[in-house]
Amino acid sequence: MRSSSLIKHCAIVVVAVLLAAVAAAAARTKNDCHSGDKAALLAIKSAFGNASYFNSWTLNTPCCEWADVTCDRAASPNTTRRVIGVTLQNDASLAGPLPGAAIARLTALQTLELNYLPGVNGTIPRDLTRLNATLGLLQIVSTGIFGPVPPFLSEITALGYLRLSANKLMGPIPNSLVDMPNLSFLDLSYNRITGTLPPLLFSKASGSDAYLYLSHNKVTGRVPAEFAAVNFWTIDLSHNALAGDASFLLGANKSLKNLDLSHNAFSFNLSAMPLPEDLISLEISQNDIYGDLPETMPEDLSYLNVSYNRLSGIVPSYGNLDSFDASCFDHNKGLCGSPLPPCKH
Ligand SMILES: *[C@@H]1O[C@H](CO)[C@@H](O)[C@H](O)[C@H]1NC(C)=O
Ligand SMILES: *[C@@H]1O[C@H](CO)[C@@H](O)[C@H](O)[C@H]1NC(C)=O
Ligand SMILES: *[C@@H]1O[C@H](CO)[C@@H](O)[C@H](O)[C@H]1NC(C)=O
Ligand SMILES: *[C@@H]1O[C@H](CO)[C@@H](O)[C@H](O)[C@H]1NC(C)=O
Ligand SMILES: *[C@@H]1O[C@H](CO)[C@@H](O)[C@H](O)[C@H]1NC(C)=O
Ligand SMILES: *[C@@H]1O[C@H](CO)[C@@H](O)[C@H](O)[C@H]1NC(C)=O
Ligand SMILES: *[C@@H]1O[C@H](CO)[C@@H](O)[C@H](O)[C@H]1NC(C)=O
Ligand SMILES: *[C@@H]1O[C@H](CO)[C@@H](O)[C@H](O)[C@H]1NC(C)=O
Repeated sequence: MRSSSLIKHCAIVVVAVLLAAVAAAAARTKNDCHSGDKAALLAIKSAFGNASYFNSWTLNTPCCEWADVTCDRAASPNTTRRVIGVTLQNDASLAGPLPGAAIARLTALQTLELNYLPGVNGTIPRDLTRLNATLGLLQIVSTGIFGPVPPFLSEITALGYLRLSANKLMGPIPNSLVDMPNLSFLDLSYNRITGTLPPLLFSKASGSDAYLYLSHNKVTGRVPAEFAAVNFWTIDLSHNALAGDASFLLGANKSLKNLDLSHNAFSFNLSAMPLPEDLISLEISQNDIYGDLPETMPEDLSYLNVSYNRLSGIVPSYGNLDSFDASCFDHNKGLCGSPLPPCKH
């Protein structure tokens, strides 16, 4: 009796161990990626000299479990999972150029993010255009990447979101970007961008809300009149050398939420155009803007700075705007009334 129950017990243990092994193998397979994707990731790792950043990227672990790698769900029990996202970030020791050829071997890649990698340098590699049909989001922020904003980026027709801020990019915004059917988010802020704004930017993606961030560059010229037809939610052109009229970005029917024109040489009559009803933030300080402040402000406006312009008249009492300090209205030609000193009649 005793020995047979022991045998039974042992048999149960053996079966349990076997089942666990099968389950583990299944989990491993379930979390493994397409072999081509795995090879591409290992090539990226090798291109960075197998840096310790990639310690979790080892052959004997399923690549969908590697840090900074995102896989899709397997299309069927028979298919392997594809790598659709890679995010490399916050490591000052990763150095050298972007391994474009290795990245382009991730042929299902939808998002590529490189954030705060100051040692990564070189130009934006043309190989990325091989991801033309899949790559919807490209973000390269705070790296040592230099050179132009390459015109060939427009070949990545899937691209909807392009953020290349705080790098060492220089030269103009390539006119080819106007051809991109899906581009609705463009951030080139904190670079050395020169030249003028392409008039037809975002004109192809007319259905979507547009986001444009160009602050802290050296962009010159005027805001193209064509921008009046774009459905902007956010425009940040601050700290450039833009001039002329930009009032057509405003208007009661616009969906604009955030406008920052500060630190340029814009010159227009603020009272000539009603503010968008949904405006949340209006920063126009350090320009040459004139006219009166509007009598009423959009309900949701929570930031306003009109200082260092040529505005005149009384600061209307706006309810919630009472909380804005004098620095938001200071240094105008003729503005007066709380929070500025009272008007002299
Ligand atoms: C990275 O490691 C792989 C596998 O061990 C090796 O084949 C490759 O040569 C290494 N690359 C570098 C740059 O050391
Ligand atoms: C999986 O592959 C087997 C053998 O090739 C095939 O018979 C089966 O239909 C496939 N199943 C799916 C869901 O694709
Ligand atoms: C890019 O970074 C590598 C590694 O730090 C360095 O050796 C190389 O000189 C840099 N190249 C340029 C053009 O800055
Ligand atoms: C991507 O590029 C290839 C090669 O140039 C081309 O054949 C293909 O049509 C492009 N796909 C898309 C979606 O643009
Ligand atoms: C543009 O984006 C939409 C929605 O995100 C997507 O369905 C479409 O395939 C994209 N177009 C291209 C050319 O990739
Ligand atoms: C705003 O839209 C309404 C209705 O869509 C229209 O009647 C009105 O003329 C528009 N106003 C302006 C200033 O475009
Ligand atoms: C600004 O526009 C308003 C409204 O159109 C007008 O009454 C005012 O005279 C203009 N101010 C200047 C300085 O042109
Ligand atoms: C408003 O803008 C001026 C000039 O750019 C700046 O000095 C001031 O601090 C700003 N005020 C607030 C509250 O941000």
